[in-house]
Amino acid sequence: MIRSALRHPILWVVLAVLLIGILGVSGALAKGESDAIASISAGQTQTTAADQAVVTDIPYSHQVHVDKVGIQCLFCHNGAIRGAQATLPSLKTCATCHDYITVDADAQDQVDQVMQAYQQNARVQWPDVYKQPDYVYFDHRPHIANGVACQTCHGDVQKMTLVTAQVDINMGFCLDCHRKRIAQNPEMPAVEKERLTDCVTCHK
Ligand code: HEC
Ligand code: HEC
Ligand code: HEC
Ligand code: HEC
Ligand code: HEC
Repeated sequence: MIRSALRHPILWVVLAVLLIGILGVSGALAKGESDAIASISAGQTQTTAADQAVVTDIPYSHQVHVDKVGIQCLFCHNGAIRGAQATLPSLKTCATCHDYITVDADAQDQVDQVMQAYQQNARVQWPDVYKQPDYVYFDHRPHIANGVACQTCHGDVQKMTLVTAQVDINMGFCLDCHRKRIAQNPEMPAVEKERLTDCVTCHK
């Protein structure tokens, strides 16, 4: 009976939303809670055995998961509140839902493909979309902590299947916003103002 209840997709969505709601973006910045978030998607770093299969064609849609199902960005990219990298979900994270939920018949083939790769312990090679050159240092955490929306830098991801680069992230883009922040916060200590435009802040 429990198992059949677990098959109901809405239940999983409610659970996911509750979980994220409880953890909350700002509250999650406290250390204890960020550890809890880390444990939601344990398995982020899979062991890379030499014979581990690498797959590149896993079907995935942001529009379906974010817009239709209502899953929060941080459920799959929880690194963004903890540090530099937003991180991508592992197949294990996909399986936390797809082990149990049923989808429409025409979507089942795609879900089978995901679960097969998971069961084979494969590693997914997703495309690099926003990767910056090595000489650029970027850190998600201060941006998320200060309420900069993901969409400001990544566009309307909730309308995309796989993410495509719709925002041109270049030095001017970064500096314009940092300068705006300085202008809007006259009270900001001089050292902080300097840091936001200092070359070594973004080029270590
Ligand atoms: C201020 C701009 C900015 C904001 C806001 C931002 N990002 Fe990013 N994001 C970037 C940049 C720049 C990169 C490339 C970083 C690199 O290559 O060093 C990136 C990379 C990524 C990546 C791939 C690499 C990684 O970090 O693991 C993901 C996934 C991602 N962002 C998701 C998100 C999500 C989800 C949010 C909101 C919670 C968000 N980003 C908010 C600028 C931003
Ligand atoms: C929190 C739960 C949850 C997680 C995590 C999740 N999914 Fe889903 N997924 C769903 C639900 C619910 C549906 C059914 C949506 C609908 O009703 O159309 C779905 C549908 C799908 C479909 C069916 C095709 C489609 O686009 O409708 C595919 C493929 C899929 N998910 C792949 C993935 C992959 C790959 C991951 C991991 C990166 C993942 N899912 C993570 C809940 C989840
Ligand atoms: C159910 C899991 C899931 C959710 C929820 C989710 N994503 Fe993703 N995201 C992925 C997967 C899987 C990829 C890799 C495939 C791709 O590039 O689209 C990805 C890729 C990305 C990338 C590209 C990373 C790169 O290489 O530069 C960005 C940016 C991103 N997501 C932002 C977001 C934002 C913003 C939201 C909320 C509006 C969100 N994601 C919600 C699973 C998720
Ligand atoms: C839309 C606004 C916005 C954009 C675009 C933006 N930033 Fe930021 N950035 C912020 C804010 C807000 C902070 C936090 C400032 C504070 O702590 O008061 C910040 C802080 C930082 C910090 C930490 C500075 C410190 O205190 O040490 C780094 C590093 C950084 N940004 C790099 C970048 C890079 C690289 C880019 C472009 C890829 C970028 N930012 C784009 C708004 C932005
Ligand atoms: C807020 C973040 C930030 C600050 C501060 C910053 N940069 Fe950059 N810079 C970037 C980003 C992001 C790129 C990558 C642009 C791209 O890929 O098009 C870049 C690229 C560059 C490049 C390569 C440009 C090219 O056309 O190939 C040089 C050189 C450079 N920066 C020098 C500097 C110097 C000198 C300073 C200090 C006066 C500085 N940067 C301050 C973010 C920053």
